[in-house]
Amino acid sequence: MKKLYIETMGCQMNKSDSERISGILSESGYVETDNEKEADLLIVNTCSIRQLSADKAYSKLGVWGKRKKTNPELKIAICGCVAQQDKEKVRQRAPYVDLVFGTHNIYELPSLIERMEHNEKVCAITNKPVVCNQNDFKIIRKDSVNAWIPIIEGCNNFCTYCVVPFTRGRERSRRPEEIITEAKNIIKEGFKEITLLGQNVDSYGKDFNDKNITLANLLRELNKLEGDFRIRFVTSYPSDITDDLINAVDECDKVCKYFHIPMQSGNSHILEEMNRHYTKNQYYEIVKKIRSRFPDVAITSDFIAGFPGETEEEFQDTLNAIEELELDYSNTAAYSPRVFTKAGKMTDKFLPEDVKYERLERLNEKNKEVCLKSNEKCIGKVFKVLVEGKTEKDGKIILNSRAGNNKIVHFEDNSKNIGDFADVKITKAQTWCLFGECCN
Ligand code: SAH
Ligand code: SF4
Ligand code: F3S
Repeated sequence: MKKLYIETMGCQMNKSDSERISGILSESGYVETDNEKEADLLIVNTCSIRQLSADKAYSKLGVWGKRKKTNPELKIAICGCVAQQDKEKVRQRAPYVDLVFGTHNIYELPSLIERMEHNEKVCAITNKPVVCNQNDFKIIRKDSVNAWIPIIEGCNNFCTYCVVPFTRGRERSRRPEEIITEAKNIIKEGFKEITLLGQNVDSYGKDFNDKNITLANLLRELNKLEGDFRIRFVTSYPSDITDDLINAVDECDKVCKYFHIPMQSGNSHILEEMNRHYTKNQYYEIVKKIRSRFPDVAITSDFIAGFPGETEEEFQDTLNAIEELELDYSNTAAYSPRVFTKAGKMTDKFLPEDVKYERLERLNEKNKEVCLKSNEKCIGKVFKVLVEGKTEKDGKIILNSRAGNNKIVHFEDNSKNIGDFADVKITKAQTWCLFGECCN
């Protein structure tokens, strides 16, 4: 067996792709290792969401390129969003790369690897995905508790700052039967949580000519499967969350009461500049609707600080939104110009780096403050948690778990194990996690 090392950057979609790459390559004679120094094949699965992420990919390649000088047999591959974006240009920066493959070319890997092994320099980037049943391919999942199922790939939204529609292509949903088969396999293998993935998961099924194929109905179908497991879905687009989806989340006991709904900005003018299809008030209405339906729900978000042309007052609206909406957690980032995007061309409106980073700092402060408040409200409540990990501290066993609303809960217990559900009463709150006592 040859040894394979995969370094994965970026979002859950990339992590899920890496598990699929690992599975496919296991059938071509590769076994995955955690030690990059002993690998025969090195793959970097890249992210291009911000310049920093793309730079990280190239600096990894640089390190590996040097290693090839002393070990010419070593093979180096790059895939993911930077590969899809830069295509042959990858080789101009890193000529020692043996294989470049795009986000649409994963299922062609067996033949690509064979060509690479015959010392051909391969670059496989298409804009059309290979049509196949993904269940025909092996998947080697990294986690033993949570399993990812991509249900829709690509994005049609073209937010002006975002490179994803260019690196992942247009929306393509997987057939519900295929997803349900994958879910059944996952449950049989003993996984306790299924996370349905998509850049815009609420668009699931819109590309089929069948109005019954929706995320809401998929949740209903998955909820019917037997077994002790729970279901999550990410990421939601604010104005695509339908009443039917909210009803489905309510009806389905296995579906976690948790929504990740990136707002991006709390100001309607900036939202319009971003080509987001909702106003500040519409976002507020959606949050209100969800909160009134599910008392213990958590709503998390993403925000960008320093979008081109953003004024101090407009930025203040973002800080106000986080506070007024009592968002449970937010991912934050300073705006980073991306190739192909509309905002990337608004160079005359770009804000100075120090302004962007100063705003990001205030955004992070506000996020921290609001997160702590959200966590403090959990004290005294009992959550059903799923144990994800275990650590030993001063002779005591501390379990790391996650509640349905996605909050991290630590508790001391000797009888529960990784993969077990437990009822935990929350006794203490910190900014990023909760502490509690098991009560069952
Ligand atoms: N599909 C999801 C998000 C995918 S990208 C959505 O629509 O919300 C993940 C996050 O990266 C985005 O929510 C956004 O906050 C951030 N992001 C995307 N492009 C960015 C850019 N050019 N600069 C800074 N942050 C960006
Ligand atoms: Fe990017 Fe917008 Fe699509 Fe999200 S919805 S992936 S932010 S273009
Ligand atoms: Fe990054 Fe591509 Fe995901 S750009 S965030 S890895 S879809």
